[in-house]
Order: sequence, then structure tokens, then C-alpha cells
Amino acid sequence: MTPRSPLRLGVNIDHVATVRNARGSAYPDPLRAAKLAQKAGADGITAHLREDRRHISDADIDGLMSVLDIPLNFEMAATAEMQSIALRYKPHAVCLVPEKREERTTEGGLEVAREENRLAHFIAPLAEAGCRVSIFIAADARQIEAAHRIGAAVIELHTGAYCDAHAEGRLTERDEELARLREMSAYAHSLGLEVHAGHGLTYDTVKPIAAFPEVKELNIGHFLIGEAIFLGLEPAIGHMRQLMDEARAE
Ligand code: PXP
Repeated sequence: MTPRSPLRLGVNIDHVATVRNARGSAYPDPLRAAKLAQKAGADGITAHLREDRRHISDADIDGLMSVLDIPLNFEMAATAEMQSIALRYKPHAVCLVPEKREERTTEGGLEVAREENRLAHFIAPLAEAGCRVSIFIAADARQIEAAHRIGAAVIELHTGAYCDAHAEGRLTERDEELARLREMSAYAHSLGLEVHAGHGLTYDTVKPIAAFPEVKELNIGHFLIGEAIFLGLEPAIGHMRQLMDEARAE
């Protein structure tokens, strides 16, 4: 069995910016949230600069790069504009995600297998600049193999289908999704890829994923920012951290 290693928590602060942008004000400030998240035990901050800038702005990325003491995981679509921004800032990690203007959130994983050649060329300069390139994909062997072939260092497995099945009470499907995620995280790890996971995770769904020994990092945003309304950001993150650590130790 793979020995269990510490599990990192990346806190996604996109939706602090969503609330700010709802009123076109200067607050709540995603940078303040990032600093608090760091204090509460986050190992990294994740921010997605979307093509339409609906939440995180270019100025937020600029601010995060200058204030953070923990790594920034810069989520972006595989476009020339985003590549040049990433090459300007050289964040610790770049996570490539699919992006559609009409979607409410990142709905599926990236189709790496169909775009292998283009993506191999796309990520090469990012890796040369020292960014750890991560690819957000479904738990699918074809996509994992393609991510491996193009030279990605990391894959992030999309946990959205598992979380949706749990929330909607489709428990057989939830368990099938979980089994698929478990099998594919072991498979990706066996190829030498670092395995991350995220999307839609809550206090109710985090533990089974956190227990996978191959998973090194979870990226969690929407639920934590929502929970912060009731508990405050630091306790909300602290409780998630505690559940992750418990799952890892069990
Ligand atoms: N990981 C990736 C690659 C994502 O795109 C997102 C959502 O932006 C997350 C994790 C976090 O998902 P959630 O906000 O649902 O926790």
C-alpha cells in the first residue's frame, strides 16, 4: 500500500471576488481572504482568472503574487492570453481547466486526449518557466494517460459528479463515482503523476476523498466561502482541515 503522506489544502477564493463584483465595490477583498486562509491552515491559494473576469481580476492575481507567502495555484483556460499572463507571473502552479462562457462553474474535465499535441506545446513554456503544470480532468484512464504523455506534473481529478450524486441522494452512483476516483488516483500515481482532487467538496463529502493515500492536495472553494458566512472564514477552513487530517489518520 502507498504510505500516507500529509494532505495539502488549497483554498479557492474565487467566490469572495464574486460577492465583491456583485456590487462593483472594493469589498470583500479576496486578498484579505487569502491572508486569512493562510492563517487558518491553507497550504495554498487557488484562483481562477476566467476569460470573462467574472470573479477574479487581473489586479487580484497581481496582488496575490505580491502578498502571499504560500503558493498560488493559478487556474486558467489554455488560451494564448492566459499563457502570457502565467508566464509574466510564474506562479507556483498552473492548473489548466476547460472554460465555457455560458457555464456557471467548471463543469467537466479538460479533453486532453483530443488536444494532445496542442496542449503539449502549450504547457512546455510554462514548465520551462518553473510552474508545476496541473490538468483538471475527469477520472478517466484515457485522459490520465494523455496528461502523462504531454508532460504534466500533476492531474487534478474532478470530484463534481461524486459530490452531486451525494447531494441528490443518488447513493449507488455516488459510490460508483468514488470507486472510479479511487482507482484512477492510484493509476495516475502509478504513472508518476502527482494527484490532486477538487470541485464541489463539502464537510459531508471530503473524508472519503481525503482518505485516498495517493491524493496530495484538495482544492476547495465554494462551500468554504459559503460556510464562512455562518462560521467565519478561519473556523470554516479550520474544520475542513480537521476533517481532512482525520480522514488521513483513520
Ligand atoms: N479545482 C478546480 C480545478 C476548479 O476549477 C474548482 C472550481 O473553480 C475547484 C477545484 C473548487 O471547486 P469548488 O469551488 O466547488 O470547491
